[in-house]
Amino acid sequence: MTYRIAPSILSADFARLGEEVRNVVAAGADIIHFDVMDNHYVPNLTVGPLVCEAIRPHVQVPIDVHLMVKPVDRIIPDFAKAGANIITFHPEASEHIDRSLQLIRDNGCKAGLVFNPATSLHYLEHVMDKLDIVLLMSVNPGFGGQSFIPHTLKKIEMVRKLIDESGRDIMLEVDGGIKIDNIEAVARAGADTFVAGSAIFGKPDYKAVIDAMRGELAK
Ligand code: DX5
Ligand code: ZN
Repeated sequence: MTYRIAPSILSADFARLGEEVRNVVAAGADIIHFDVMDNHYVPNLTVGPLVCEAIRPHVQVPIDVHLMVKPVDRIIPDFAKAGANIITFHPEASEHIDRSLQLIRDNGCKAGLVFNPATSLHYLEHVMDKLDIVLLMSVNPGFGGQSFIPHTLKKIEMVRKLIDESGRDIMLEVDGGIKIDNIEAVARAGADTFVAGSAIFGKPDYKAVIDAMRGELAK
């Protein structure tokens, strides 16, 4: 299993964002996780395509845009143009899930659905062939620094089974409350990609945290 660590810039110092993303990639990050909140679908407001475009020249790794916005479709081409590599959205925020997934792919990005802790997995049923990634939230979306919700481990196991049964190469990313002390359990449940915001950017030594996480994953 190839494991990927995806630091969420939500907990970075936004006044020094270019430097922050360079530092976290130098510290071993595989992906930059980019949280987009619209104060409508979620009760918080973050950043848009302009900021994605601004950080793009600073890193070579994929930028993983997590859209917490409603409506979904009209912002997708803008993020693709701004240099996003992966774009995920919440199915209940899209009027036409198949169309939104296809739109992401037509714009040259990998496409995925995001599930809140209480969102049903039934949305997966008819779109497995259009998915490159499934993102499972292990907190309710909107804020960094929340505690991991333990019952989501069961859901990770369920999605791992569905992905394996599909025979397709679909990433399984988990987002929210991931720390050094629970990343191994999240991996055991079936995740391969781990978002971590406060656990990494909340500490002075990013490499120490990422190395410790990799140590847990190697157990
Ligand atoms: C929450 C965001 C997460 C968040 C993770 O809505 O989608 O990506 O930044 O932050 P931590 O790791 O602090 O829970
Ligand atoms: Zn996120």
